[in-house]
Amino acid sequence: PLPPPFQVPLPIPSVLAPVSTSGGVDRYAITQREASAEILPGVRTPLWTYEGTFPGPTIESRRGRPVTVTHRNELPVPTVVHLHGGRTPAASDGYPTDLVLPEGWHEPATHVQPASGHSMQGMQSMQSMQGMHDPRAVVSTLTRDYTFPLDQRPTLLWYHDHRMDFTAPAIWRGLAGLQIVRDDAEDALGLPAGQRELPLMIADRAFAADGSLAYPALDPTLREQPGVSDPYLAGVLGDVILVNGAPWPVHEVDAARYRLRILNASNARHYELEAVTDDGRRLDLVQIGADQGLLAAPVTHHVLPMAPAERYDVIVDFSGVAIGSRVRVVNRLGSGRTRDVMAFRVARNATDGSRIPRVLSDDLPAWRRSDAVRVRKFSFRTGRMRGGHGWLIGGLPFDPGRSDVTVGLGDVEVWRLVADVHHPVHLHLVGFRVLSRSGRPPLPHDAGLKDTVSLRPGETVEIITRFDGYRGRYLFHCHNAEHEDMGMMANLEII
Ligand code: C2O
Ligand code: CU
Repeated sequence: PLPPPFQVPLPIPSVLAPVSTSGGVDRYAITQREASAEILPGVRTPLWTYEGTFPGPTIESRRGRPVTVTHRNELPVPTVVHLHGGRTPAASDGYPTDLVLPEGWHEPATHVQPASGHSMQGMQSMQSMQGMHDPRAVVSTLTRDYTFPLDQRPTLLWYHDHRMDFTAPAIWRGLAGLQIVRDDAEDALGLPAGQRELPLMIADRAFAADGSLAYPALDPTLREQPGVSDPYLAGVLGDVILVNGAPWPVHEVDAARYRLRILNASNARHYELEAVTDDGRRLDLVQIGADQGLLAAPVTHHVLPMAPAERYDVIVDFSGVAIGSRVRVVNRLGSGRTRDVMAFRVARNATDGSRIPRVLSDDLPAWRRSDAVRVRKFSFRTGRMRGGHGWLIGGLPFDPGRSDVTVGLGDVEVWRLVADVHHPVHLHLVGFRVLSRSGRPPLPHDAGLKDTVSLRPGETVEIITRFDGYRGRYLFHCHNAEHEDMGMMANLEII
């Protein structure tokens, strides 16, 4: 029962009210629990949620004002919360084995089913057991406090599940929400705000006839056996495009500028977004920010490529669009129904006091190659591991017990990332700048400070960053969530 496109109103995730704001800290409580929602007309979709909704509630925060979130796990499996893009001490960064256990959880039996036809099973369970038995793993029962200092540039972050081996299916079931960091300098820019600032979490999903989410998990309980069936080893795609949890929604807008804060929360789907009017005109997508906040100056695009976990802060001006007509957001990479994403209906003329300053920020780090104390090279490639299929970094699958990269706090390094197929590479803790793509200058959408960079097939991308913030054990990984679950993750130790 798929709805026609551009009929369902765009939902805006509700903003979570703090439990308390005393002592200079905003405290929140989030219960992770099962819930259901009418995503497709006439059927209920069971979900795993933060606070009963997908997306979860949005947390609005201020730069440098700490936030503590008490997560309570009422789901049937262990969970881990990671604030993606957060500059977070390691203890609250959601390492995949830092589990919050549900009440009465019994560790799955260590007996591994023989891998009948799915060669991955053995490998994945081995990983899972290593995770469970990692002596450094932090396990807490039922609730856990995550503390986020948010001493970082204002931007759109997102929180999502990060459990060892099961991140992809957990996000697919609904464990994702937004967190926005703001500051006075950004507020003073005069950008479109209030009703004219829209968070857009784009995620594809597949549904069964009864309305439930379809996901090719080998173990649909997500308790023991990680992995997906063989046809999905490259990643799981859905044929329904959701924005803020609604299929191909529509939003009524004034003929004015809007600030769109776009996140690709899809497990594996890439987008090349365009905004097209009814008479076939492509509107300018004026990028003002990247994953890690404002650019130095706006960059105008007509097509915006988005890999999983990337965010773009974009101004679209609807003032030249005929009243009563539509602007469709389409994905050039999609076909059939996955070409459509959402639409805006330009409802009325309106005054617009917003502006797009020519200078947006002046605090972008300008690291130079000569600042780097080290150049490292990592390959992101498919491979075989323990007799099955895996996705490997530097030839190795993830092992929480192994030290992969050790960097000194404060060191600047250049990382050369080499891909076989598409891999969106994400570093925890730090933002980085893109230096080059296969020896050529970065692309227009590589501007600013990133935390996820899309490696295109066959490409070598160089990034540069300073590893500052906190010491401790962090991660870098591919954010194709299925690749991540199948080994494409590594430890980043900051000492
Ligand atoms: Cu968005 Cu390690 O993740
Ligand atoms: Cu990948």
